Amino acid sequence: MFDATTENAPGRTILFLNGPNLNLLGVREPDKYGSTTLREVEETVAKTLSAHGLTARFVQSNHEGVLVDAIHAARTECGAIVINPAAFTHTSVALRDAIAAAALPTIELHITNVHKREEFRHHSYISAVADAVIVGAGTHGYILAALHVAHLLVG
Ligand code: DQA
Repeated sequence: MFDATTENAPGRTILFLNGPNLNLLGVREPDKYGSTTLREVEETVAKTLSAHGLTARFVQSNHEGVLVDAIHAARTECGAIVINPAAFTHTSVALRDAIAAAALPTIELHITNVHKREEFRHHSYISAVADAVIVGAGTHGYILAALHVAHLLVG
């Protein structure tokens, strides 16, 4: 985990949370997920947020409980959450409940259009507790999410 700037006002820090296998972005199934690495995505997101006076906190984990803990921390330390829960999208009531408990503006994001893929990817436990859902925009979706958060928090 790292905060992209030293600025740390709770309402101005946005949690970008990535679930399992997204550490392999750039090398994992590039035909589906593209060749941009997670670190490259994070650098662009940090710049986009910083142009709006916002700070990014990036967390990626392959472990459900670590993701839940990051959401709990965000409850008092962040102004919004952008989450790509990856495979946990389709399985995790725990993540859904954590997001509901955090009660922060939350954007669910998928790099691929999950609705064009296997049937088991069509259902999300997260969408019902998200304020917006971005699917199928590739890694550019993270920038779209950053811009939407800026729109919500800064105007
Ligand atoms: C994903 C879609 C999920 O179904 C999959 O398990 C992922 C990535 C996406 O970003 O398109 O790991 O969330």
